[in-house]
Amino acid sequence: MKQRIYITRKISNEIVEWLKQFVDVKMWMEEETPVPRAILQKEIREVDGLYCLLTEQVDRELINQANNLKVISNMAVGYNNIDIEYAAKKGIAVTNTPGVLTETTADLTFSLLMATARRLGEAEQFLREGKWTTWSPMLLTGQDIYGTTLGIIGLGRIGEAVARRAKGFGMKIIYYNRNRKPNVERELNLTYYPFEELLKTADYICILTPFTDETKNLIDEREFKLMKPNTILINTSRGGIVNEEALYKALSKNQIWGAGLDVFDEEPISADHPLLSLKNVVVTPHIGSASIQTRMRMAKLAAENLISVLQKKQCSFIVN
Ligand code: DGY
Repeated sequence: MKQRIYITRKISNEIVEWLKQFVDVKMWMEEETPVPRAILQKEIREVDGLYCLLTEQVDRELINQANNLKVISNMAVGYNNIDIEYAAKKGIAVTNTPGVLTETTADLTFSLLMATARRLGEAEQFLREGKWTTWSPMLLTGQDIYGTTLGIIGLGRIGEAVARRAKGFGMKIIYYNRNRKPNVERELNLTYYPFEELLKTADYICILTPFTDETKNLIDEREFKLMKPNTILINTSRGGIVNEEALYKALSKNQIWGAGLDVFDEEPISADHPLLSLKNVVVTPHIGSASIQTRMRMAKLAAENLISVLQKKQCSFIVN
């Protein structure tokens, strides 16, 4: 008898057909709505593998419902939605999809940086609302990018890819990371700065560190106070790394100049969230890795990870 898996969202037929060669597949058939928790709690009971997204909270309670589960394959590089330690205790492997989304996420990070610096959202709205009556010298003026300093917090794969882009734009690049990376420093001409020094120095700060207990609220009131009034903060990692109340205060008091945000504490962010009332914020709905090609690569890699674990083959993307 084939092993069984549950997929928590409708994914491409091509991948489902590929999976069906190895396992019996059951799938939540909606593309835009996450599987309700009660259904997931029922479905997880007998399956050998769970293929899930970052919208599913795979916590202790859910893991405890599973009787046969051997692998949880997350279609994302981040896995803060899964209690990986508890899964390990239960002998369940958790896998993720690093690498395949690096360049795409770096593209979006740099796009947000540029959009915030040059007020693209505001400018587009201004034009669409028929407010453009004449060219004028200081209309919608933003910040320069060339010749400024980018501070990268978290120099993983995506951090390095953002640094490569910034280099092409003539930026000076400084970074903070738990471990220094001398080879990358040499290759990309980066300078390591202690955390607080980076906050005081950078014109642009990109948050690219994973979300963990250590990085929760890493950027809070105290950190905003250290930043310069022209600082632009970009977050394409996870919302919880930046305290949103403190961010709102910093932006509305013009303690910093702007923010480009792809991720939020609660997703989806509600349309009446105070942050969305501010003009100096550019927002996108967690689309860092959202190119057609990359989302297909992530979906395929998540499928391959799941099958490798079920077939007891070598899998390089087990995170616990
Ligand atoms: C991830 O993979 O963790 C992103 O947030 C979604 O691509």
